[in-house]
Amino acid sequence: MSRDVRASAAQLLAKVTAGASLNTHYEQAADQLETNQRAFFRELIYGSLRWWPYYRGIYRQLVNKPMKTKDSDIEALLILGLYELDHGDTPDYASVSAAVNSVNALKKKWAKGLVNGCLRRYQREGARLQESLNSAEKAAYPLWLYDKIRAEWPEHCETIVEASRQKPPMSLRINRQQVSLEEYKEQLTVAEIPVRRGGAFGVTLETACNVEELPRFFEGYCSIQDESAQWAAPSLNNALNHEEGIRVLDACAAPGGKACHLAELGASVVAMDISQERLEKVTANRDRLKLKIDIEAHDARSGEHEGAEFDGILLDVPCSATGVVRRNPDVKLIRTPEDIVQFSALQQELLTALWPRLKPGGHLLYVTCSILRGENDDVIGQFLANTSDVTLETLSSVPGEATSYGVQLIPNSDGGDGLYYSLLKKPKGSDASR
Ligand SMILES: C[S@@+](CC[C@H](N)C(=O)[O-])C[C@H]1O[C@@H](n2cnc3c(N)ncnc32)[C@H](O)[C@@H]1O
Repeated sequence: MSRDVRASAAQLLAKVTAGASLNTHYEQAADQLETNQRAFFRELIYGSLRWWPYYRGIYRQLVNKPMKTKDSDIEALLILGLYELDHGDTPDYASVSAAVNSVNALKKKWAKGLVNGCLRRYQREGARLQESLNSAEKAAYPLWLYDKIRAEWPEHCETIVEASRQKPPMSLRINRQQVSLEEYKEQLTVAEIPVRRGGAFGVTLETACNVEELPRFFEGYCSIQDESAQWAAPSLNNALNHEEGIRVLDACAAPGGKACHLAELGASVVAMDISQERLEKVTANRDRLKLKIDIEAHDARSGEHEGAEFDGILLDVPCSATGVVRRNPDVKLIRTPEDIVQFSALQQELLTALWPRLKPGGHLLYVTCSILRGENDDVIGQFLANTSDVTLETLSSVPGEATSYGVQLIPNSDGGDGLYYSLLKKPKGSDASR
């Protein structure tokens, strides 16, 4: 017998509210469902997480007593039920009745009246309950992060929060080693996959589709990559004058989107990552795209290396993912202000450890998918202050907001993710043994 989708979604959401990462648990939960249930499951999980603080604010007004920790699945069921009433395709009466029935699958029949009562009250009093939300809840953001975004990006705050609640567009990067951009666009037309927008390296589709539908995807003709992320490899490659065979280290490479793009542009790439498991994705992408990339599992902070070996380093650091919330909506639940401090320290450590591996005359491109200054300009500013053999370069081709030390792409509903780029150079004549 097939499982109850809403109950399965409530169980996974309860795990996430307890601090578990969505990426780690999602596949396992989805695999337990029938294939034809998975799209709806995905919509419930991703949709309700993108709106979580909003419907948590409604829930707060409907349920006066805090729920016991062991009943956080009922809290999650209610929040996803509220989300479904506003955003789902199921008729309201049917989604209320399905949510009420899901308490059986959760073995909590006592909650039947509570779920029924709350959802029906929202149907009657929704407008008033929405009006009573505070401004962070209305934006569907945790208060600390909403305040930070308002302080750091006052003019873009609305755009940023709006983007976080939307499904991301699907963009493709075309593998020029296999096919030209124009030819691939023609193949998409023949396959009746409409393109919304063309970029310098790829296209954005009118509507997302399965990779199986993309022409010659498995022969390596294209990759799925957000448009903002498509600026990384060409920016570093431009700085290195497009020389064929330049040696580039991608120090935090998995799953390999940017490393493969660098190889497609002709660089000789070493892809490193601390996670052996995640590196398997780099291997799969490299092989599918028919590229040559050396893959190494290492902690990029480790001191064991052979000196200044690289013309270029791409440092796409682990970060808060506050620029890609629509793709990682659990960020709204699990991130804390302390995380930003910790990421910032790790980012500084990575930058400092990798700098000696760059040849004099070489360039390092620092990238985050964060929109917070603490992980972006603050990290670069501190590195510039502490390092003698470094200069800051401009990144004129990347279309974003110029900051003190780089460029910030603002996430927006119709466009790309929120990435930060900063380009550093080691002047020629610097002591390579440093
Ligand atoms: C933002 S992701 C990189 C995305 C990748 N550049 C791409 O475009 O597909 C950051 C990566 O850093 C890796 N990482 C974290 N700490 C690391 C360390 N100390 N040394 C090397 N890699 C690390 C993580 O495993 C993760 O794969």
